[in-house]
Amino acid sequence: MKLLNPGPVTLTERVRSALQKPDLCHREPEFFEMQRRIRDGLTAVYACSQDYAAVLMTGSGTAAVEAMVGSLVGPSEKPALVVANGVYGERMAAMLKRHGRNFEVVSSAWTEGMDLEAVAQRIAASSCVLAVHHETTTGRLNDLSALGQLCRQSGVPLLLDAVSSFGGEEIHFEEWNLLACAATANKCLHGVPGVSFVVARRSALQAPGHSPALYLDLQNYYALQEKDGSPFTQAVQACYGLDEALRELADSGGWQARRELYRQRTQQVEEGLARLGIDTYLPAGRSSILGSYRLPAGVSYEQLHDILKAAGFVIYAGQGGLSSEMFRIAVMGDLEAGDLERLLAAFPTP
Ligand SMILES: Cc1ncc(COP(=O)(O)O)c(C=O)c1O
Repeated sequence: MKLLNPGPVTLTERVRSALQKPDLCHREPEFFEMQRRIRDGLTAVYACSQDYAAVLMTGSGTAAVEAMVGSLVGPSEKPALVVANGVYGERMAAMLKRHGRNFEVVSSAWTEGMDLEAVAQRIAASSCVLAVHHETTTGRLNDLSALGQLCRQSGVPLLLDAVSSFGGEEIHFEEWNLLACAATANKCLHGVPGVSFVVARRSALQAPGHSPALYLDLQNYYALQEKDGSPFTQAVQACYGLDEALRELADSGGWQARRELYRQRTQQVEEGLARLGIDTYLPAGRSSILGSYRLPAGVSYEQLHDILKAAGFVIYAGQGGLSSEMFRIAVMGDLEAGDLERLLAAFPTP
């Protein structure tokens, strides 16, 4: 079965084999050696300066996002500004609400880009900006160059959900004034689900934290991991997978090569579907990683899903109200051009 959902991804044999390594206690030196290698490997993906460090956590992408939001956005007179145009921006606003923080949301329709004019008007009065890099809801790659520039010019820190883009799209830490970004092992990095991480400025990781949750206290993870420790049990086998996946990414040319590969795959899918009369859902601003497409007339998502699953492919539904109009195809993980040819051949013909 080939997974074309936006993570977990189809594993390469190299990563799958790494999961077979010997059992290991997460409090032994061999584990801490791997933890250090992974943390260094994560900051190396984007050649981050020594001002940044990675914190490795057990949990899915949401755990890392909530650790970032909860630990780095404290009580403040000035509101935090959430820029939302999909499920994941809205989720960060929901986290801030639950944590009792002062925040405002600049929202756009899920089909639209970020409202940068509204951000420009409010940014000076904001304590920080929170945004989503790749809004997986629709496959939109948000314009982080423009948002990052606004943040840098106004000296307002940016907190980024890069869960579905880290390793597969461009990220500029200094240029975008990134205080932190959160991501996961099992999307563009091609690891297995179970571990996620936050790359943040060391200065913020060393400052007093604000986490309302004991488990998601980023500063606590950082303090212990810097001393080769771990506050809680880590998902050791998922770490084996991430460790190997990071080596595989470096060996295959890094994020730039991976983005190019994803671009070629997405183009192949887009062109093949266009020949079947199936249009992309977003006219512009699409990521390399995931495409959203209009359901063919007279075919429900469930019908399409089952036809393609019988042919060996798992696709993904639209979220919320979009499930009746669109479906999504992600191109991460171990895929060949021939797999995508077989996928396209399995689509119902008009
Ligand atoms: C942009 C983004 N943020 C957060 C998440 C949540 O990640 P998880 O389901 O691993 O908790 C996802 C999942 O697809 C995502 O795409």
